[in-house]
Order: sequence, then C-alpha cells, then structure tokens
Amino acid sequence: MTAVALYDFVLTIHILAVVVAFGVVFAYPVLDAQMHKAGPGDLAALHRLHLALGRRVISPAMVVVLLAGLYLALDRYSLGDPWISATLAILFVLFALTGAVLTPTDRRLAELAERDANAGGGAPSEDYRREERKAAAFGSLALALVLVAIFLMVAKPGL
Ligand code: HEM
Repeated sequence: MTAVALYDFVLTIHILAVVVAFGVVFAYPVLDAQMHKAGPGDLAALHRLHLALGRRVISPAMVVVLLAGLYLALDRYSLGDPWISATLAILFVLFALTGAVLTPTDRRLAELAERDANAGGGAPSEDYRREERKAAAFGSLALALVLVAIFLMVAKPGL
C-alpha cells in the first residue's frame, strides 16, 4: 500500500472546502421558494440567513479552496497551466461577485423586506422585486462559474 502523501491530504481539504463553500448555494432555490410562500417578515430573515452563510461559511471556505488549491498547483503543476489559471480567475470573479454584488444585494433585500413588512403590505414591493431579479441573475452566473470551475479541475484541458 502506498503511503498517503501530504498532497492527498491537501486535495481532500480542497474538495471538502468546495463542498462546504458551494454545496449550500445549490440548495438556495428550494430554500428561497419555501420562504417566498411566507410573508415579507420571513423574507427579511431569509436574506439575513444568506448574509450569515456568506460571511461565516461561504467566504471562509472559498479562502480554504484558494490556499489548498495554490499548494496543490505549486506542488505538482504550475499556475501557468491554463486549467489552473482559468479556475484561479473564476475564483477571483466569485470573490468579486460575492463582495461587490451578492452580499450588498442581500443586505438591501433584507432592508426592503423589513420596510415592506412594516408598511403592512402583503406582496413584496417593486423595489424588492427589482433587487431580487438582480440577485437571481448574478446568483445564476456564480453557480454557472462554479460548474465551469469543477469541469476545468476534473478534465484539466490542455494537460
Ligand atoms: C471555484 C474554485 C474551485 C473548484 C470548484 C475546484 C474544484 C476542484 C475539484 C473538484 C478537484 C478534484 C479534481 C480531481 O481530482 O479530478 C480539484 C483539484 C485541484 N484543484 Fe481545484 N477547485 C477550485 C479552485 C482551484 C484553484 C484556485 C486552484 C489553484 C490555484 C486549484 C488547484 C487544484 C489542483 C492543483 C487540483 C489537483 C488536481 C489533481 O491532482 O488531480 N483549484 N479542484
């Protein structure tokens, strides 16, 4: 039996961090659909949940994906390999999308849902719906980028 190398250990951490960072995001459509059946007060709770998950789970796990990925790349491959540099670029785009669009939009959605609840309105306001469309579009883009990243990592095109 061959000894388990440090590389295998770091690869396990890398894949585990990918599961932790992005797994929950694939459950968002079901979670969101359930919460939308409830009232505006519950929608504010939904967006605060997204914010907490982003800050405490997704962002830290993305940092682990990056650090473990850098170790793996420098140990056996090169950062210049196209499948690695492309995935690195995707991860930076994901960091930018999270920090510049998804998190601020969720914060705004939480505020708007609270405002709608305080106004006593049953249906979400037009402001809420507009921000929600933005969140859905950029969220779908982020998920598509994760799928491309997984494909690049597994297929390693150009290697
Ligand atoms: C969204 C970001 C990422 C995702 C979803 C991801 C996903 C994965 C997955 C699923 C594997 C296992 C592939 C296999 O064993 O066939 C893997 C391996 C690997 N990843 Fe990533 N990764 C990401 C980012 C990165 C980054 C930024 C780097 C480098 C800077 C990197 C470097 C590597 C390397 C070198 C391997 C090992 C390949 C091997 O030895 O077979 N990854 N990644």
